[in-house]
Amino acid sequence: MPCLVTVGGFYGDEGKGKIVAYLARKDNASIAVRGGVGPNAGHTFTFEGKTYKVRMLPSAALSPSTRLLIGAGVLVNPQVLQDEIAMFGADDRTYIDGQCGIIEQSHIERDKSEDHLKSTVGTTGTGTGPANSDRALRVLKLAKDIPELSLYIEDVSNSVNYALDSKENVIVEGTQGTYLSLFHGGYPYVTSKDVTASGICADVGIGPKRVDDVLVVFKAYVTRVGGGPLNNEISEEEAKTRGWLEYGSVTGRQRRASPFDMDLAKRAIRLNSGTQLAVTKLDVLYPQSAGVQDFSKLPAEARKFIEGIEGETGLRVTLIGTGPEIYDVVDRRS
Ligand code: IMP
Ligand code: MG
Repeated sequence: MPCLVTVGGFYGDEGKGKIVAYLARKDNASIAVRGGVGPNAGHTFTFEGKTYKVRMLPSAALSPSTRLLIGAGVLVNPQVLQDEIAMFGADDRTYIDGQCGIIEQSHIERDKSEDHLKSTVGTTGTGTGPANSDRALRVLKLAKDIPELSLYIEDVSNSVNYALDSKENVIVEGTQGTYLSLFHGGYPYVTSKDVTASGICADVGIGPKRVDDVLVVFKAYVTRVGGGPLNNEISEEEAKTRGWLEYGSVTGRQRRASPFDMDLAKRAIRLNSGTQLAVTKLDVLYPQSAGVQDFSKLPAEARKFIEGIEGETGLRVTLIGTGPEIYDVVDRRS
């Protein structure tokens, strides 16, 4: 902090939501601001036994003193947003930029019916690709055109820059993952925008010199939903045996899985100019890690795995996820 950008280092679903939920509470962030595509992302976190999922709000929704902002580059589904605001009672601390694009029913229908999107790319069907295509054509509605959102409209770039001028802690929450980037991922099996750290900053309206830290979040293994290549993909049977079988939080689709990929990790660090790393779900690889908060209490093999990543990448793994609860974290910052 003060300006920390979190991004996914693989194909999304690295556990960014839990990391952001932890950081916001732990560091008393004054702002969490979401960049990325829109409600195609689902960020999940668990607090005191209850699991929450956000598709529009930043994952800091459980941090009562944190303002929840959505940057201009993000697409908003008004219904999803309003449901989440109600769920978290976040009416008085949610602000969206007037220039956020609006997803309408017609975008969702196109996303679900166009064969290329549905069958080849395997999109989430949430309307984001067609909406961004309309935005490029400059026919998309913006948040400032929607009366029921008027309460929440703010100049988000201005708020974030002002908070940074005042030395407040700001978390910029990226969504999706590096290899889903429209520019840097495996086209056409990608999402409809760049989602690397630079793109996320552009979404929010901060320039590159405002960023203090880029936290690249990896999971202890790799998963991907939808089409496209996945190196060293393991079978469904094998994924089940290893406990790596997961289901998409937005679509419920089964995620494909492969072991941690060091080459992808190194390239992601370069594409995002990562300064520190998080590795989530270490407890899935090493069950004795579950709930551990102290590095020295991790099993030796698990420590070796983390140190291996540090040795190969030259960056410190500052945060390690050891379970679904927000505070199931080894925090090695300081
Ligand atoms: P779209 O973003 O819905 O257009 O989908 C394009 C590709 O990105 C598909 O393979 C989706 O499964 C994937 N995708 C988009 N958002 C996420 C996410 O938040 N997590 C994981 N995969 C995603
Ligand atoms: Mg997700």
